[in-house]
Amino acid sequence: MTAGGEALSLPLRTSEDVVRMRQAVRELCVKQGFSLVDQTKLVTAASELARNTIDYGGGGQVAAQLATINMRKGVRLIFSDQGPGIPDVELALKDGHTTGNGLGLGLGGAKRLSSEFQIESKPGQGTRVTIARWR
Ligand SMILES: Nc1ncnc2c1ncn2[C@@H]1O[C@H](COP(=O)(O)OP(=O)(O)O)[C@@H](O)[C@H]1O
Ligand SMILES: [Mg+2]
Repeated sequence: MTAGGEALSLPLRTSEDVVRMRQAVRELCVKQGFSLVDQTKLVTAASELARNTIDYGGGGQVAAQLATINMRKGVRLIFSDQGPGIPDVELALKDGHTTGNGLGLGLGGAKRLSSEFQIESKPGQGTRVTIARWR
């Protein structure tokens, strides 16, 4: 059974927004009793997705919530933008693929650092990436 908890929404437009988001995500992880390593994994994944929201999505927001499945506590994050979308999600997930001047490791890295990972993207309408990590 899943219980959704306290939701919080933050804008993602500037580097300062990314700093605030990192702090907020770390606080939620602490609240859920994550180890320092697990906190850092989720914060790292979140940073990559926030950068993508800003760099490729033209800015957007992140919604964060505490979640519990059975007895396991976790944090779920939903990044959304109304940018150009991702025409080929499978290609975008490949390590080394970038349409900017990044390393192309952000999406794949975020997926590996998360317990759950989902991308929904429609060309011309935007992108939504949902991740969750359980303790
Ligand atoms: N929110 C987004 N909107 C549109 N395109 C995106 C978005 N996020 C990622 N992408 C696309 O996926 C590619 C791979 O992203 P990523 O793995 O983070 O690598 P990088 O950021 O280094 O390019 C990006 O180069 C971009 O083409
Ligand atoms: Mg990236």
